[in-house]
Amino acid sequence: MKKTLALLLAAVMMLALLTACGGGDKPADTTGGGQQQTQEPAGTPEPAPEAPAEAGTIGVCIYQFTDAFMTTYRNALQEILEGKGYKVSTADGANDQAKQNEQINTFITQGVDALIINPVMTSAADQIIATVQAAGIPTVLINREPTPEQMAVYDKLVYVGCDARQSGTMQGELILDTPNKGDINGDGKISYIMVQGDPENVDAQYRTEYSVKALTDAGMEVEELNLTRGDWMRERGQEIVANDLAQFADQIEVVFCNNDDMAIGALQSIQAADRKVNEDIYLVGVDALDAALNEVKNGNMTGTVLNDAVGQATAAVEQMELLLGGKTYASGEQSVYVDYVKVTPDNVDDFMG
Ligand code: GAL
Repeated sequence: MKKTLALLLAAVMMLALLTACGGGDKPADTTGGGQQQTQEPAGTPEPAPEAPAEAGTIGVCIYQFTDAFMTTYRNALQEILEGKGYKVSTADGANDQAKQNEQINTFITQGVDALIINPVMTSAADQIIATVQAAGIPTVLINREPTPEQMAVYDKLVYVGCDARQSGTMQGELILDTPNKGDINGDGKISYIMVQGDPENVDAQYRTEYSVKALTDAGMEVEELNLTRGDWMRERGQEIVANDLAQFADQIEVVFCNNDDMAIGALQSIQAADRKVNEDIYLVGVDALDAALNEVKNGNMTGTVLNDAVGQATAAVEQMELLLGGKTYASGEQSVYVDYVKVTPDNVDDFMG
């Protein structure tokens, strides 16, 4: 009897010790203090088998559901979160910041456990951060990066995205890797048009700048024939490139598109003008949408750059769970980056489903 009691006491003490050591509710911080990190692109997420049925409720705000890349991203987020047992509510900001602000407030009133927000406007970051901070909601911002100073005011906030400079540089490299380095007519300079995303967004600014910088850094002379904003949309890409081809015709050697959806639109106009990609014109995008991968594969796009939606969604959920576990972030260490990857006909099969 005495022995049984002693055993029982020992078991209880062991349990208490384990809980005190963090075997309880707080997950360990495995990210090295939330510093700027680069995460390897991740494969298709596996639902965690041990996840409880109701892990919590998560509000996901997307700037605009009609955006092709953000649709892939949103679906990945939903799949990962639901696979882990979270209840997910997604809201379409419809490219309207006032509308998104209301959606954030509604989620807060409903008592969500955490928010994942793709802001409509980067310039609204201060307001968004003040709102989630006042409510004390752990928040992961995605896709549109605020400045470190803006994020520093709230320690339960982290940004997950990519460094857009990298994607711009890779676009330039795709052109430098062509047999004539983009100078199809051999006049000593690369003449290009730039189809830009929403210029309020750092992705559009950096891709525009760094794609051309890669060319000039390699000692190439460049000539910008036109730069037009296409707001990430396929129809705008098509319209812009149709107009530019009508105006500049054979002068255009390279079409830089800040994303794939605009590049697919551009391709329609290139084909309508009887031009042939990789023969008399080059065309590059970013994102690696399925449609673009097909066009790279069959030679109708020079290349694209993988914007890893699954990798970013995986990292966003990881960071969200760290926040839910009580992690806080030091200022200047609130950005987590996932790498871009260059996609050419040589490796395109690796990215096709
Ligand atoms: C970019 C992406 C674009 C568009 C944009 C929205 O990263 O390449 O296609 O989705 O985000 O902010």
